[in-house]
Parts: sequence; structure tokens; C-alpha cells
Amino acid sequence: MEGWDTSLSEVEQRLQELLRSSGRLPKHVAIIMDGNGRWAQERGLPRVEGHRQGIQSVREVVKVAVQLGIPYLTLYAFSMENWRRPQVEIRTLMELLHYYLRRELPELQRHGIRLRAIGKLNALPRRVQRVVADALQATASNTGLTLTLALSYSGRWDIVRAVQMIAIDVRRGKLSPEDITEERFASYLLTRELPEPDLLIRTSGEMRLSNFLLWESAYAEIYVSNLYWPDFRRCAFYRALLDYIRRERRFGMISEQLGAYRLAEEIATELEELLHAVERRVH
Ligand code: IPE
Ligand code: IPE
Ligand code: MG
Repeated sequence: MEGWDTSLSEVEQRLQELLRSSGRLPKHVAIIMDGNGRWAQERGLPRVEGHRQGIQSVREVVKVAVQLGIPYLTLYAFSMENWRRPQVEIRTLMELLHYYLRRELPELQRHGIRLRAIGKLNALPRRVQRVVADALQATASNTGLTLTLALSYSGRWDIVRAVQMIAIDVRRGKLSPEDITEERFASYLLTRELPEPDLLIRTSGEMRLSNFLLWESAYAEIYVSNLYWPDFRRCAFYRALLDYIRRERRFGMISEQLGAYRLAEEIATELEELLHAVERRVH
């Protein structure tokens, strides 16, 4: 943690402190990292270059999540539908994943990050499965940020898988149909150990879920950034968080029932000013 902290400017430290002390940061942020291909194509580069640059955004977002003490971060890295892409692109994505996991492992360890993975992992190439398994095992007892990678993931697939497991338990007499509540159902999903996402970010301006955390996102606050993922760096993440903490989450109720739930205007203004100052320094 120290190494990261000292690299922060005073104004960024102040921004982080104020975000933290607002007491309103999300517990679980989930991100659909989209737009790598377009980022590259607009620069006349091959799509894989976008994926490569996207790794730097992953590093920055993970780092800020650790610094802010956000306990859960889930990244959509590869969907089940992504298997339909051209073979060469799939191959490079798998190589990058392999590279990232091996290379970042010491850094994940240093910051007490616990890595998790959700998805149909046995669909991944063997050597990727191995580095994933190694990284999961190596970080299993860490107690800091829980970083979950969605790999070969599909929300519908996970729901159907859960239904199958439930049906098996009913057949074995371990569960009676009357006992299938929402909580019980969720306990069969791969996300069972994660709280529901509070903030769901999608980059590249696309307004869709693309089969990500369908059940879990029932009440997630959605934030769409027009930036392509390789351009989504820490200032963009701060902006998403600032937008989130200003929102009123009503969960079906009305404003009056929520009491003094809104973020005080002075704090919002100060955060806005600090973020502007950080943006000026970074760009
Ligand atoms: C997101 O970027 C990364 C993955 C889906 C693996 P894309 O590769 O989807 O980039 P665009 O959306 O085509 O620009
Ligand atoms: C969603 O992005 C999946 C990931 C970010 C891993 P896509 O680029 O695959 O989504 P669609 O196909 O445009 O909806
Ligand atoms: Mg895309």
C-alpha cells in the first residue's frame, strides 16, 4: 500500500480521503471493460493493441479500488459470447490473460488482493486454467480487495447452472421446492460470496449488459462512460464514483422515507473541485 500512496499527489490524496469519509462509496463495483478494439482501430492499430493498453486501465482501477478501500471489484474480461470472435483475437486475449496473471501476481500479493474467477473456466485453454488456478490459490488467504475476473462468463449460463444444481438437490431430497427463496437461489450462483454490485460501469458508450451479472444487478446503479476502456484511467474512475455517491438509491421507496440520504452539496462541490485539480495534473 505504501508504494502506491506515496506516488499520489497531495490533492489526489485529499480527494481519496474525502471520497472515503463520505461513507457512501460502493462496496462492490462491477465493470464491463468495453471498447478496446475501437480504441485501437481509431489509431490505425490492430485490435490486440487495444487489449494490451486495456491492461494498464485494469492496473489503475485496481489500484484506486485498493487505495479507497472498496472491498469488491469485478471485471468482465471475457464473455461466453466472445468465443465467437475470430480465432486469432481469442488467442491473443488468452495470451494476454496468461501474461497479466503471471506478471501481476506479486503485485496482487503485495496489496493483499484476493483473486476470484467466475465463468465456465474449464472452457479456457489449459495453460490459462493453470495460471488462473495458481493465482486463485496463491491469493486465497488474502484479506484485502476481492478482485473477481469474469472469464468465459455468461449471466444466463450461471442462472441455468444454478437451476440444474437446485433440481439435483431437490431430487436428492436435500431441498424442498418450497424452500427456494431468492437468497437460497442466489447461494447457488457463482457469485454467492460477493455482495450484489452497487455500481455497474460500462465503457465505450454502449448501453447494454451483454449478459453480465443479470440476477445480481437487479438494483445496481448503472454508469456508462463514453471513454473506450484503454482511456478509462483513474480520473474516469473517480468521476464514476463521484457520480455514484451523489445518487439517491431508493430501492422502490420514495425520497422522504430515506431521510437525510443525499450527499451534502458542499461535499459534492469540494469533491468536484478536487477532481478537476487532479484531472489538470494528470492530463
Ligand atoms: C472489450 O473490448 C474487451 C473484450 C470484449 C474482451 P472489445 O474487444 O469488445 O472492443 P470493441 O467493443 O470491439 O471496440
Ligand atoms: C462485453 O463486451 C464483454 C466484455 C467486456 C468482456 P462485448 O464487446 O463482447 O459486448 P457486445 O457483443 O458488444 O454486446
Ligand atoms: Mg466490445
